[in-house]
Amino acid sequence: MKLKQLMLSAAAAMALVAVPASEAEAAKVGGEVTNFDFSFQGPFGTYDRNQLQRGLQVYREACAACHGLEYVAFRTLSDPDGPELPEDQMRALAEQYEVWDPELREYRTAEQTDHFPQSQLETAPDLSLMTKARAGFSGPYGLGINQLLKGIGGPEYVASMLLGYTGEEDMQAGTMFYYNEAYGGWLSMAPVLSDGMVQYADGTEATAEQMALDVAAFLTWTAEPKMMQRKRAGFTGVIFLTVLAALLYLTNKKLWAPVKRRAKES
Ligand code: HEC
Repeated sequence: MKLKQLMLSAAAAMALVAVPASEAEAAKVGGEVTNFDFSFQGPFGTYDRNQLQRGLQVYREACAACHGLEYVAFRTLSDPDGPELPEDQMRALAEQYEVWDPELREYRTAEQTDHFPQSQLETAPDLSLMTKARAGFSGPYGLGINQLLKGIGGPEYVASMLLGYTGEEDMQAGTMFYYNEAYGGWLSMAPVLSDGMVQYADGTEATAEQMALDVAAFLTWTAEPKMMQRKRAGFTGVIFLTVLAALLYLTNKKLWAPVKRRAKES
């Protein structure tokens, strides 16, 4: 096949893959999403432990009053490649929560194997998988080309949405709605982040943007706690295949060498 044909079919194949991914898995929202840089992006990107710890703090202080994190077990906060909280801190954090124990039929203090609670506010969605449920990028014309270049954009969407309020408000049937540019419409969640709202232990200045990025990074980890392992496995695979390809090439040359020599001689 000629190179041009090969490239065309590769592009076609990629387009086929990109479209269903954007349409089916993550719902693209209508608005303007900023392409923020995160440490975990790119083939060599890793989570920034300090940022995940700051994001956890923002979640607990600014979001947990309404949003749950029901798929995240407390003990995973100490796992490698995550926020890596020291064991004692993680246990102390778990003990601040109460969980319903179906066997005891009463509430008890949470242990490290328990999960964060569900959403406290019924209308607020659980945030465990939110960065995978929303797509920041799509288009043009729904082809998903932007996702090939910029990624799906879940964390970018969450950060942009937290910062995307225009200040317009509207009361509809007793509920207040707030215009949000990243959401591309009216949202019933009020703006929550304001400069200096939390005090970071590591001395980072808690601007609204910093908090939005930190909590978006933390929520990416909750949705993809194994991302680093996945990347490492990918690398091992690529190295293995490269070595295998080189060996096969040499084997091939060696096997056919006598035949080629004979062909030349005759
Ligand atoms: C006072 C309660 C409250 C707080 C605090 C709150 N939220 Fe929300 N949030 C909501 C509600 C209610 C919705 C559903 C809004 C809707 O669909 O109109 C929502 C929706 C969302 C969505 C989904 C938006 C979408 O695309 O559908 C995200 C993401 C989100 N919140 C993140 C956060 C984060 C991160 C924080 C903390 C920094 C936070 N929220 C704090 C009530 C809250």
